[in-house]
Formats: sequence, structure tokens, C-alpha cells
Amino acid sequence: MLILGIESSCDETGVALVDLPAEGMPRLRAQALHSQIEMHRAYGGVVPELASRDHIRRVLPLTREVMASAGQSLADVDVVAYTRGPGLAGALLVGSGVACALAAALGKPVMGIHHLEGHLLSPFLSEDPPQFPFIALLVSGGHTQLMRVDGVGRYQLLGETIDDAAGEAFDKSAKLMGLPYPGGPGLSRLAEQGNAAAYKLPRPLLHSGDLDFSFAGLKTAVLTQCKKIGEAAHTEGAAERADLAASTQAAIVEVLTKKAMTALQQTGLQRLVVAGGVGANHELRRQLNALCAHAGVRVHYPELHLCTDNGAMIALAGAMRWQAGLARPMLRADFQVRPRWDLAAVQADGP
Ligand code: KG4
Ligand code: ZN
Repeated sequence: MLILGIESSCDETGVALVDLPAEGMPRLRAQALHSQIEMHRAYGGVVPELASRDHIRRVLPLTREVMASAGQSLADVDVVAYTRGPGLAGALLVGSGVACALAAALGKPVMGIHHLEGHLLSPFLSEDPPQFPFIALLVSGGHTQLMRVDGVGRYQLLGETIDDAAGEAFDKSAKLMGLPYPGGPGLSRLAEQGNAAAYKLPRPLLHSGDLDFSFAGLKTAVLTQCKKIGEAAHTEGAAERADLAASTQAAIVEVLTKKAMTALQQTGLQRLVVAGGVGANHELRRQLNALCAHAGVRVHYPELHLCTDNGAMIALAGAMRWQAGLARPMLRADFQVRPRWDLAAVQADGP
């Protein structure tokens, strides 16, 4: 069974084809991605209207590319899955409109997928997939959540950010240091040359006793430091800038790792899945690997290229929902998108 997945919730157009065998795990057959990062860079962040227009331009050529590299034709597709939310309304409508139109033309069902469900299931495409139940640390540009995952569609929110997401903390701090959008990867590279103990930055809610996060105060503290440091805070090659990057990364990583370990202790679970763009961060992986090894916890990450937004995770989530008997694929076109949508509200009977 072949599932086509279409992702267009933010600034990446992703299309992929996943094969669901009668038995065993879904397998990625082909995928194609277009990132709009270059286009948005001039504005220092995502411009929603430009994002939608670019998704429209890219989605069909990418779909053709995926079908060609899998050696299949669209008529072979059994189900079309698309990101229904959360995300930018106009951007989501492109994916949902195209998916529904394709499915209608092919006489095949469509499935609306939760973007975060795609992220948290993405490690199932790796060589060493996790087993349920596990704790998921979802860290992206828009979300920071700890979930208890007991199976496909069985998600319990344990804690989340009360203001900025971890990715946002990376991006906003990076911007203050004069790094181009999205600043997470750049800040992380810069941090490798810096001293993480150089600046004392706050670790918000570290000792709050719950599993919530807060990153807005950190950004303010970085701004204050930038002002103190002056020109060097955003000068290429300046030691102060690298030190500030390393100190910022250390603050974010410490809070994420501490809370993830607390979630494992509180639930008694022995597996951790880290997903979302910030899951690509080397320092986060290094520290989590060490802490989990010490605690006897297995930690799973998606392959690096599947950490940030992509179509493969959407096709995969569609395949796993189908496999679990939770899918409610619809033959009729349903253009409704859910720009705001809680993952815990994705009931077992499907979106
Ligand atoms: O999951 P994602 O592609 O999109 C959303 O669903 O939001 O995550 C994008 C976020 C951005 O904030 C980006 O700066 C961050 O992930 N990111 C990183 C790294 N790679 C991507 N943050 C820190 N270190 C990285 N290596
Ligand atoms: Zn994402």
C-alpha cells in the first residue's frame, strides 16, 4: 500500500512516498523537499503570504519528482496524507487543497495529519525504531512539549512551554547576535568555539517541579548581555559572541535535558524519543546520550534529515494510523485545516 505525504505547514514544502507492507514497518520509498529559508532570510523570519505562494509553486513539481524517483505513477497511490495543522493557515491550505484535489481526481481517500504526530513518529523510519510506550521531547520552532506516548494516537501532554518555544529561543537569541534566520543551526555552530560558562544566563522553571518550560526570559537576558558586550556581541570572529552563543545554548539544553529526565523518572518509562528541528542540535544529543546511558534509558532520534519539517513524517504518520486501524480516510474532499490544534486532542479515532 502506497501513501503519499504532503507537508506545507510552515516554510518547507515536503512530499514523500511511504510503502506500508502487509506486515512490518512502513518504509520510505522517495522524498523531495524545498526549503524556503533563503526566501524568508531577507525578512528575518517567515512571511506567511510568501510561504503560501511558494508552496503553490513547489508542491506539484516535488510530487512529480517523488513519483519519478520511486518509479511509480500517481495512479499507484492508495491514500493521500497531508498536514492539517497546526501551522500557518494559508500554507496549510495549499497542502490540504492539493491533497484533496489529487485524491478526488484519483478516487482515493485523504487523511489529515497532525504535524507534531509526524515529528514524534519520525524515528520509526530509522534503522533502530523505538517501541511504545515512550516519552517524547518535541522541540521545534513553534512547540516545546513533553508527551507520554502509549501508542499511535495515544498521546498525553505532560508539560509544554508557557511562552516561547525552544527553537524560538535559539532563533531570537541568534538574531540578537546578528546570525541569519533561522538562527538555531548557526548559533549551535558558533557555540562550538565558545565557552559555555562565560555568561550566567537564567534557566527558567528549572526547579519548578513541573514539566513546563519558559524561554521568553532567556531571550531578554541575552538581549541584556548583548547590550553589555556591545559591538562584539554581533561581530564575526569575536570571542564574546561565541561565548554568548555557547552560554545561550547551554541554558536551553540544560532545561530541556533536565525536564526530559524528570519526565522519565516520574513516569518510570525507559525510552525517550527526541523530535523536531531542535532535536538536530549536537549539544542536546550529546548531553541526552550521556544522561540516558547513565539512567539506563534508550534514546531515539529521527535521522538528521528527518528532524526538520519534511513530507516523509506525514506519509509515515498516515501509514502508522492506517496500520493501527485509527485512520478515517475520507473520499469526500475536506479542505478544513487546523492552524491551532493540540496533539493530545487527536483522539484515537483520528482527526
Ligand atoms: O521542526 P522544525 O523544522 O519546524 C517547526 O515545526 O517549527 O524546527 C525548526 C526549528 C528552528 O527554530 C531552528 O532554528 C531549529 O529548529 N533548529 C535548531 C537546529 N536545527 C534546527 N536549533 C538548534 N540547533 C540545531 N542544530
Ligand atoms: Zn515541524
